[in-house]
Amino acid sequence: MNPAAEPIILLGPPGAGKGTQARRLEEQYGMTQLSTGDVLRAAVKAGTALGREAKTYMDAGKLVPDDLIIRLIEEWMQKPEAKKGFILDGFPRTVPQAQALDAMLQKRDLKLKAVVEMKVDDAALVERVSGRFTCTKCGEGYHDSFKPLEKAGECNKCHGHEFIRRPDDNAETMTTRLQAYHAQTAPIIPYYRNQGILLQVDGMGEMDAVHAEIKKVLNLI
Ligand code: AP5
Repeated sequence: MNPAAEPIILLGPPGAGKGTQARRLEEQYGMTQLSTGDVLRAAVKAGTALGREAKTYMDAGKLVPDDLIIRLIEEWMQKPEAKKGFILDGFPRTVPQAQALDAMLQKRDLKLKAVVEMKVDDAALVERVSGRFTCTKCGEGYHDSFKPLEKAGECNKCHGHEFIRRPDDNAETMTTRLQAYHAQTAPIIPYYRNQGILLQVDGMGEMDAVHAEIKKVLNLI
């Protein structure tokens, strides 16, 4: 077993702040963030077969089929990044995905360090995704009210000037995404609780407070 490479899962409903917190952990601790949503959006943009297949589901707010996602993770696991600590953001999202991940990790003599569940009320989630936008150059995430740009039209981080809003970040699609979370993803909470690796944090606080709580439950300094 290689404890330095123990992966972490950030689990939570759409807009809970998984991406925000994964990027902070990545910057601070040198772990690699793997967001299945980001990989799928890149595939859609590139117009690959994967992207074309995934787009219909994503636009509707539905989960992309398990076999496609599991294949995507299998491929990523071959990369050198997978040998050091990594943070999974948006995967697994169903019990079959969680079982497939267990098998993949076991094959590589890896073990999950923890699954951190970020708890946020549904009403706050809608507000969070409705105000979200991202820098197209560096991927830094923002929010109209909760994390605005310091200088109008310019990314705080890379000084880029182009931003994008996600097509699925609207109230209607959000209803479907939340239904998918409660029906298909929530069942993985008891799955990990039974393994004794589930940790919970209050995701309703400000970004810095949530970050501090995640570090605390993970025993990170
Ligand atoms: P994905 O991209 O994974 O979207 P998601 O789970 O819906 O999560 P989000 O990215 O919307 O939110 P987040 O929790 O990362 O929040 P963020 O940090 O950005 O998936 C998209 C689609 O791809 C799915 O619907 C599905 O179709 C498909 N897919 C992906 N993975 C799949 C899988 N494994 N299986 C099947 N299908 C899959 O924060 C949100 C906003 O709030 C930001 O503006 C941020 O600035 C702000 N914010 C963050 N934290 C706080 C805070 N504490 N207080 C106030 N504002 C905050």
